[in-house]
Amino acid sequence: MTTPSLQSSTGAPHAAILGIGAYRPERIVPNSEVVEAIDSSDEWIQQRSGIKARRWAGPEESVQMMSVAASRQALERAGIDARQIDCVVVATVSHMLQTPAVATAIAHELGTDQAAAFDISAACAGFCHGIAMASDFIRAGSARHVLVIGVERLTDILDLNDRGTAFIFADGAGAAVVGPSETAGIGPVVWGSDGEQFDLIRQKEDWRDVVGSADNPGSGTMPHLVMQGNPVFRWASYAMAKVSQQALDRAGVTLDQLDCFVPHQANMRIIDAMARSMKLPPTVRIARDIAEQGNTSAASIPLALDRMIAEGDAKSGDLALLVAFGAGLAYAAQVVTIP
Ligand SMILES: CC(C)(COP(=O)(O)OP(=O)(O)OC[C@H]1O[C@@H](n2cnc3c(N)ncnc32)[C@H](O)[C@@H]1OP(=O)(O)O)[C@@H](O)C(=O)NCCC(=O)NCCS
Repeated sequence: MTTPSLQSSTGAPHAAILGIGAYRPERIVPNSEVVEAIDSSDEWIQQRSGIKARRWAGPEESVQMMSVAASRQALERAGIDARQIDCVVVATVSHMLQTPAVATAIAHELGTDQAAAFDISAACAGFCHGIAMASDFIRAGSARHVLVIGVERLTDILDLNDRGTAFIFADGAGAAVVGPSETAGIGPVVWGSDGEQFDLIRQKEDWRDVVGSADNPGSGTMPHLVMQGNPVFRWASYAMAKVSQQALDRAGVTLDQLDCFVPHQANMRIIDAMARSMKLPPTVRIARDIAEQGNTSAASIPLALDRMIAEGDAKSGDLALLVAFGAGLAYAAQVVTIP
């Protein structure tokens, strides 16, 4: 008897982002509302981070609700019906159930019950991980249309008295519909991790330490995000400029061909340091959504893209370099075409 050889799938020649959507919580929180609890000032926050205000979600603005709203907009802009989506990937660190994945509930609410649906945990780099996976799924034939969502309700895990994080993190959702394309709309990903720096940005403690045991009662408090800001700042400013250049090289795009630079909206000074060290020409438009939105982790890149498109800084067909980085430390970068 001969061993049968397995069939393998093949997909579309290329993949591209077909539409982008966003959801920003209604409540705008200016620096003046956060300074008292952390003994800070509007001036200090703006100077050190570039943040003027952020969006914080209200009780009705859940991870699922924000994701569905952003996804509906992305689907409409892509001209794709939800039933055509056969895979939903949600990048988040603030869905409060370890299981099941929020992606399944989002798929159901959108009306695409047959879709594969799962969450990924790559913190602020999650959306770019999702875009890389979507591109590969489509080209390998595992899916035809993939919905990639970056969503966070970081206020649920934020300690409003922590001087190092309270003014930085925020809430929101962004989504992208990725589908087949005749030309390459998503360049090769450059991604990786540096687990030696696992503790630089993390939840303070494990849920088991919170709950405790009969002999050893737990703390009973939410394991908030904690961050060692200085080393994160140095790592991001230096290493991520190199990763960005590698993504350009792998896509075969030179600096003078690049239209938009869309880095993770972590801190305006990191964005400026990266732009300087990459020697970006003045013709490259740079995303600066952080000033009004704060750092929304996995949602930051699609939110920043959405603003650039809305304000005319990114036009259909433009080449945009995305680079995302955060807890882990994890990172991912790729060049994409604006839909
Ligand atoms: C958080 C961050 C803005 C802090 O800025 P910094 O320049 O590193 O600040 P430092 O922690 O060195 O503190 C500098 C001074 O400001 C003070 N300070 C710290 N937090 C403060 C706050 N919220 N308000 C006012 N003063 C503050 C410190 O006490 C210190 O005072 P001192 O010089 O008298 O000792 C900065 O480290 C940062 O943005 N890091 C990257 C964070 C990031 O992007 N994270 C997301 C990655 S996904």
